[in-house]
Amino acid sequence: MISAGILGTGSALPEKVITNRDLEKMVDTSDQWITERTGIKERRQAAPGETTSHLSVKAARKALSMAGLSAKDLDLIICSTISPDMPLPSTAAFIQHKLGARACCSFDLAAACSGFLFGLTVAEQFIRTGKAKYVLVVGAELLSRYLDYTDRATCVIFGDGVAAGIVGPVEPPSGILAAEMHTDGQFAEHLYIPAGGATTPASIKSVESGGHYIKMRGNELFKVAVRSLEDVSRRVMAQAKVCPEQLNLFIPHQANQRITDAVRERLGVSPEKVYSNISRVGNTSSASIPICLDECVRGGRIKKGDLILMSAFGAGVTWGAVLMRW
Ligand code: ACO
Repeated sequence: MISAGILGTGSALPEKVITNRDLEKMVDTSDQWITERTGIKERRQAAPGETTSHLSVKAARKALSMAGLSAKDLDLIICSTISPDMPLPSTAAFIQHKLGARACCSFDLAAACSGFLFGLTVAEQFIRTGKAKYVLVVGAELLSRYLDYTDRATCVIFGDGVAAGIVGPVEPPSGILAAEMHTDGQFAEHLYIPAGGATTPASIKSVESGGHYIKMRGNELFKVAVRSLEDVSRRVMAQAKVCPEQLNLFIPHQANQRITDAVRERLGVSPEKVYSNISRVGNTSSASIPICLDECVRGGRIKKGDLILMSAFGAGVTWGAVLMRW
């Protein structure tokens, strides 16, 4: 059986920084509250002309270059996003065209913050079965376009960013060792955008009532997030017969520093093995894990042979984990 691993990574962040102090001027919040309750100090915001596909192409080019491949080598493009360029067609179609890839299979995947790991897991199936050799997986979010900057429950949390990975065949023992994906729709309305879809089509009323903005019941998701992240992390480690002490790096989805700390403690992973960039970028949903991954690869934090655990939780609710040897 062919093993699948990550051959290259790349990321692209918009230039504009929104600090907690900036948000203090917009909503009833404080740098102290945001820092203590989330760990976030600043996040990025895309410029008016920037689009999800535009930043995705920048990240994808860097990932292709690291992998030593060209866009023409791609057999499949998966774009994980909940903030697409437009509802129709897929953002993956724009990426495919702007990147100059062949007319290969390209589609979007909607699993919110778990999306990059879902994409990695789907890519792995194609590579293992020989259906594809090189797959581009993008985690791309321009959540600022879906944020209500009068709602302090959401606008302080989320940020914009994109990152990509090229998934392809690798020589064992490198590659994905275990992966899991889960969804439980009973909590679907704890984090959602109620209007703009077929249930409540866009109308003057839906826009006036702010139905096109992200709504989140954060405190109700908090406990579910910690439990799910712990459980799925344990499951993939058990499948691969790996214990937490053997991990070289743990990259959890950057939802909240308190969630990361709670999961790390429950799993018994030592603090220096956990990567966190939430203070600089906030919660970038499906871009969160691949941005971390790219920072670790380019910063020399990941070396060949390292054992890496990535775990995510997001709207749906969805959760998943990938355990891999670099
Ligand atoms: N500034 C100041 N005060 C605030 C703010 C703010 N930005 N937001 C809320 N508060 C207030 C509330 O009104 C409340 O006040 P009250 O006690 O007078 O009623 C108080 O702070 C506590 O509010 P909580 O919502 O209970 O705060 P909590 O500690 O739970 O933190 C947070 C909120 C940061 C959202 C947290 O619950 C969280 O991170 N939840 C998990 C989110 C998550 O995992 N989402 C899924 C992934 S994201 C995705 O898929 C796209």
